[in-house]
Amino acid sequence: MKSVVVVGCGFVADLYMTGLATFPGVHIVGAHDRDGVRLQAFCTHWDIPGYPDLDRALAALPRGGLVLNLTNPASHGAINRAALSAGHHVFCEKPMALSLDEAREVARMARDAGLQLASAPSSMLGEASQMLARALRDGVAGAPRLVYAELDDGFIPQAPVQDWISESGAPWPYRDEFRVGCTLEHAGYYLSWLINMFGPVTHLVAASAETLPDKPGGASGTPDFSVATLFFEEGPPARLTCSIAAPHDHRIRVIGDKGVLSVGEAWNNAAPVRFHRRLRIRRRLLESPLGQRIKPKGPTHPKVKRRGAAAMNFALGPAEMLDAIAEGRAARLAGDFALHLTEVTLAIQNAGRSGAMEIASRCEKPEPMPWAR
Ligand SMILES: NC(=O)c1ccc[n+]([C@@H]2O[C@H](COP(=O)([O-])OP(=O)(O)OC[C@H]3O[C@@H](n4cnc5c(N)ncnc54)[C@H](O)[C@@H]3O)[C@@H](O)[C@H]2O)c1
Repeated sequence: MKSVVVVGCGFVADLYMTGLATFPGVHIVGAHDRDGVRLQAFCTHWDIPGYPDLDRALAALPRGGLVLNLTNPASHGAINRAALSAGHHVFCEKPMALSLDEAREVARMARDAGLQLASAPSSMLGEASQMLARALRDGVAGAPRLVYAELDDGFIPQAPVQDWISESGAPWPYRDEFRVGCTLEHAGYYLSWLINMFGPVTHLVAASAETLPDKPGGASGTPDFSVATLFFEEGPPARLTCSIAAPHDHRIRVIGDKGVLSVGEAWNNAAPVRFHRRLRIRRRLLESPLGQRIKPKGPTHPKVKRRGAAAMNFALGPAEMLDAIAEGRAARLAGDFALHLTEVTLAIQNAGRSGAMEIASRCEKPEPMPWAR
């Protein structure tokens, strides 16, 4: 039996529960939240035991089980430490920690205890990301020369954020989202795809700034815009942009010698991957506008219905991790991969006007999912 305890029963926890239900054999032992009212609403909705005390929740999980840390980022470090100390593996929502020192400390703690610590997002394990990586390996677009990845969410402070409510009734925590900032919240969605395709980032040149100090909740001093040029161990440079002001654009484009591989949505596991062949027609040069779809060869993974902005199965990472634990191997999103993803994300977030940075950590490129080989 693959046993899981959920810590943090807010907005995103409902999305995890929907995802976990698509993987047979996962047993939710129970949940904990420091907010008793939220804990009760969540556990009643999903019909699972609620533990008002964290230690009791961790003790209810057989040693070596998996803790899903779905608390707010400010609590990630404390909950990761508590779960590892209790002898459990951890899948932590992003960011894994709010500082590089803390990320290194919890990564070391996991390694010393022989436990695995992984960080969201999971979407790198999803169909769109894996098909894009396969097309790249197959040389569909020829040698890759440049990547543009956009995580512009639209002018979020003017969206009806107070009306965004999760399935069990948790409000979207816009104040916390603005305090943490869209780079720490979102850069990982494409950074993880890029590291999966091109290996670790060795250097980056980045800038970040607060462009909307008048958002609800007031100025946070946290950047709500960032742009980074990333240099990888192998592969071309990539530009990654995050903002909550520019019009919604979640495209990733890998520009190669023969044309462009593109995905239009970061938050849809089933978003089509297309190859736009470059054509010379008389004196013009253009990329075919419709593109040829790169389809999986067979079944991939369970999908969930779109809810709000996302059609993502949030349980892809935890499910792969549970398989890895059962098989005695390293999970794709755990260990060096999680630490590296966190280091690069923090470097972009904290870039300010400072410019170029070297990245110390390294990781292996994860193996493709079995259905994407
Ligand atoms: N909201 C989204 O759309 C979304 C999407 C993907 C990922 N995430 C990530 O998920 C995480 C949680 O976000 P959310 O939107 O669910 O936030 P939320 O505020 O709705 O829920 C977090 C819950 O964790 C609980 N909590 C916080 N610290 C705790 C502690 N020390 N002990 C016990 N409970 C604690 C809070 O009481 C709250 O109920 C964040 O890391 C966020 O980046 C959010």
